[in-house]
Amino acid sequence: MTLTIVTFLMILGRCTILIYLVFCVPILTTILYFIFKNDTSASSALFFKNFNFGGHRGSPERAPENSIASFMKAKEDGCDLVEFDIHISEDGVALLMHDDTTERTGNADLKVEKTSWPVLEGIDLKPVNNVSAKIPKLHETIDWCVENGMKMLFDMKNDNLTLIEHIADEIKKRNIYDKVLVSSFNPVVPWRLKKIDPRIITGITLDRSYYSYSDDHRKLPFTTNMFAHFWNEILDEINMIIQPLYILPKFLGVDVVMISFRLISENAVRESNEKGFSVISWTVNDPDYMKILAKLNVPFLTDISSQVDRKIFKSK
Ligand SMILES: *[C@@H]1O[C@H](CO)[C@@H](O)[C@H](O)[C@H]1NC(C)=O
Ligand SMILES: *[C@@H]1O[C@H](CO)[C@@H](O)[C@H](O)[C@H]1NC(C)=O
Repeated sequence: MTLTIVTFLMILGRCTILIYLVFCVPILTTILYFIFKNDTSASSALFFKNFNFGGHRGSPERAPENSIASFMKAKEDGCDLVEFDIHISEDGVALLMHDDTTERTGNADLKVEKTSWPVLEGIDLKPVNNVSAKIPKLHETIDWCVENGMKMLFDMKNDNLTLIEHIADEIKKRNIYDKVLVSSFNPVVPWRLKKIDPRIITGITLDRSYYSYSDDHRKLPFTTNMFAHFWNEILDEINMIIQPLYILPKFLGVDVVMISFRLISENAVRESNEKGFSVISWTVNDPDYMKILAKLNVPFLTDISSQVDRKIFKSK
């Protein structure tokens, strides 16, 4: 016995890089995994009750995306939920905006994080379908949703801790745990939220191009550096290979996996459910996909809520 221990210590003492890599790194990773892992403890049954489809940034074909006008249209179209993107201004105001800048959707090109609310408030959003609108504060958006019985999906574009704490606070203060899902591409957001308040329903977005592209269509790479982009593509491939293990969602303790319509399949839905995750699909603009998802009982987000044939949900 003593001899075995001594031999073991001798081996350990001469630990080469290889031994470290083969034994120490996986063991250490596993230990850290269990130390920092979150538990899932939110109850999402009420949130998913009567949730068939949601408006992606409201109804962006009928009014400027991420505006109250857009959410009104989504409501008219029969959406059960509105999804919107949350950023924070320089002076700490939580507001709705998808991009880092106001260039694409507004009449000025300003970096949201570097601009104060009084300036952002003055911006006119580019009219859509002759509807003009202003940038809404998160606070007034939640007010509108609560008054109109609309469920909410917060898509966090920013892992600013002040913002995450603010979000947790709003949900707690208003007791809207069963009306809100907070999701992000950024794992820090759901991880941190569950640590602050396990009752908050959280989600993580899964897609093919998690690291390499910033857009749904794989046209806008995150980086212009060829080598960095190549590396990101490799990360994406690894990500795709390990995704079926659900290591990340389990670690984060999320309740929902947000699966891109490009990755969704009956199998993916069943596996997610078996692992204990609910599924929401995005961004579904094809009527055939909508039908399949309705049949699978998977709610989805769409840009074209006015064109959703609501009869497809009747079978439920
Ligand atoms: C978060 O945002 C606030 C307000 O814009 C800012 O003061 C703070 O420095 C930010 N924190 C981090 C960690 O970026
Ligand atoms: C928008 O308004 C202008 C001027 O009132 C009108 O000429 C145009 O047809 C309208 N466009 C749409 C899409 O309603």
